[in-house]
Amino acid sequence: MISYGDFMSNFEEKEMYLYDSETSSEPFSNLVVNIPSSFDGYVFSKICRDTIGLSSTNPTWGDLYRYTNHELYYIGICIYKEMDYDIPNAPYSEKMWSLLGKRVLKNCLIPNITLIKDQKNKETGLLSHIILDNSLEDLTLMNNLLFYKFERQDLSKLHSVIPIQDLLECVKIQINNEQNYIEVESQIIQTLLLDSITNNSDRHSNNWGLVRNKESNHYTLGLFDHSSSFIDMISEKKTSTIDGWTSTYSSVTSQPKRSGIGDFGNNIVTYLCNNYPNICKQFMHNLNLELENFYEDISSAPYYIDKRRLQRNISHKSIFIDKLLKQIEQDDKGGR
Ligand SMILES: Nc1ncnc2c1ncn2[C@@H]1O[C@H](COP(=O)(O)OP(=O)(O)O)[C@@H](O)[C@H]1O
Ligand SMILES: [Mg+2]
Repeated sequence: MISYGDFMSNFEEKEMYLYDSETSSEPFSNLVVNIPSSFDGYVFSKICRDTIGLSSTNPTWGDLYRYTNHELYYIGICIYKEMDYDIPNAPYSEKMWSLLGKRVLKNCLIPNITLIKDQKNKETGLLSHIILDNSLEDLTLMNNLLFYKFERQDLSKLHSVIPIQDLLECVKIQINNEQNYIEVESQIIQTLLLDSITNNSDRHSNNWGLVRNKESNHYTLGLFDHSSSFIDMISEKKTSTIDGWTSTYSSVTSQPKRSGIGDFGNNIVTYLCNNYPNICKQFMHNLNLELENFYEDISSAPYYIDKRRLQRNISHKSIFIDKLLKQIEQDDKGGR
């Protein structure tokens, strides 16, 4: 059996037929019959809008099929994100983060991303493949766990910037199993490291959550929405970076932030290296093993994604972290 990704490079974009049963006067099968047999692309059959207010862009859930050689192959459920085209390179960032995340955060659930030629916007669009099997698993977003720790008024004082330790406490209460918590804690620390290294500025509490197996009650960290990553790393400088790092929605202390701006990546990684040196060392080891493969993964990305700039930026950050870890090891030895 061929898989939909066979014979396609990571950044190949194909066209997509959109089918909406609510507005279409014809059944789905008619649409398929009427597709020219030479068509080589995707068919997306809309299921519903994301109606529970988790997204500002109101994406659409649907069934994705690949149409090629006059045949329709079912791929699976995806969310079709009509991108904010004011953010240049957003679909590519989302795709690149997915490729890197899958390599480095092997135990987390990260969506596959399919890039498409978006006929409506005449730009590149994207589909994010669902990270869970609804019949076996459920998803609780971090946002829904924060009430273990915060009264509603206190939560609003944080302006969406969540102290890392408070988040971990909430996750621990939810998981209620020491061994499983240790696994997810490590996944969270490593995600915060990768977010810092990739300048992902959008890890707010609706962009990650816990996927639970309904039978075993085992939890795994799920991650999505990486379209605001690689800020200032793949194209010219934006004003939002300081010394090459962006802020995200996490803080290393429990002091509420006035502005809604979290700590910058260099502060986050310093905090994590000091408090979780073994996890950070293991992470850096994996990152170094996988970087060359990742650069190979993105070799087919469009020319205006500045891969040299990206490599330089990642290398600066990994040197910064390696130095930190060495320093901490030396201080530990000196203190003994
Ligand atoms: N691949 C996925 N699997 C499962 N849920 C997803 C996936 N992608 C997005 N979601 C859900 O849909 C919501 C909106 O998607 P997101 O990628 O965050 O788009 P937006 O940029 O509009 O915020 C997320 O908060 C999450 O709950
Ligand atoms: Mg989102």
